Amino acid sequence: MTRKCHPNEASWTHGKNRVEDMEIASPRTSLWVIRKYAVLALAALRREGVCNGVSQLVSQWSFDHQHGLSAFFPQEVRHEASEPEFRISDAVQYQGVDPRLALEILNGLPMELRLSATFVDYGCGKGRGLAVGILAGFRQLIGVEVSRDLATLAERNLQTLRLRHPEICLEIQTMDAVRFQPPEGPLVVFLYNPFVGLTLERVVQRLADHATRSPVHVVYINPRGRSAFLDHGFRQCAAWPDSQALVFESGPASDASQFRGRGHPFTSTRSSVPEQGQILRE
Ligand SMILES: C[S@@+](CC[C@H](N)C(=O)[O-])C[C@H]1O[C@@H](n2cnc3c(N)ncnc32)[C@H](O)[C@@H]1O
Repeated sequence: MTRKCHPNEASWTHGKNRVEDMEIASPRTSLWVIRKYAVLALAALRREGVCNGVSQLVSQWSFDHQHGLSAFFPQEVRHEASEPEFRISDAVQYQGVDPRLALEILNGLPMELRLSATFVDYGCGKGRGLAVGILAGFRQLIGVEVSRDLATLAERNLQTLRLRHPEICLEIQTMDAVRFQPPEGPLVVFLYNPFVGLTLERVVQRLADHATRSPVHVVYINPRGRSAFLDHGFRQCAAWPDSQALVFESGPASDASQFRGRGHPFTSTRSSVPEQGQILRE
């Protein structure tokens, strides 16, 4: 039995079965995934309430349909033989991000930043986060994904948006995020709770090094590893209700936040994740 997290849960335990690539899976694995997804959907409905839960599922499905994605179903992460250092115990299974929430947050970043920064989706899965990044106006985008199957699906999924947005430069790098060296220049890092533990720690360390040379903004949805960013000197500058998401910026605390979104700005602190609208004091 391996212990694995679901991106919206603190932890999630799965059985022995390995889920193959959902979109090209055998009928038996498909049935197994559908059953598992039904359990997750019921948990989401319990958590969000029926109306909210259903509206989220419908909005995810219609987003995928509208942009030519097939990103709806979750998928577990497998060991990748090409990545001997990969810490599977830190990895969170694939589940596409809520596109409405992600777009709302990204739209809070200044347009100049979106046009000039590289958007990096760590653990890009089937590419829904990258699709949101394209729609938010980013021109340079990189998806980092450890699973070969998921990276292939992301490539396939983003073909429609690539054609509709010839101005973008998009690449998917199939590798463990700890080995990924971000390009020089400003970064907008997108994380939908992709990994925890030492993997997150190493990625944040690399981002903190990068921040000594160029600004780094972090959009962190379901921020289970929030303290890693605070420990490396990032400032929280916005929060969404029920700890759904946080935005961090690099740079001294005296710098004015560039974030203009609906999540309310607040100063850097170590207290618990605030509710939206709550202004925290040092
Ligand atoms: C919750 S999904 C995020 C999906 C995507 N970012 C989105 O917004 O739709 C987490 C993803 O992180 C990937 N992942 C987990 N550990 C990783 C690692 N060490 N390096 C790269 N990708 C990883 C998983 O394979 C999975 O696809």
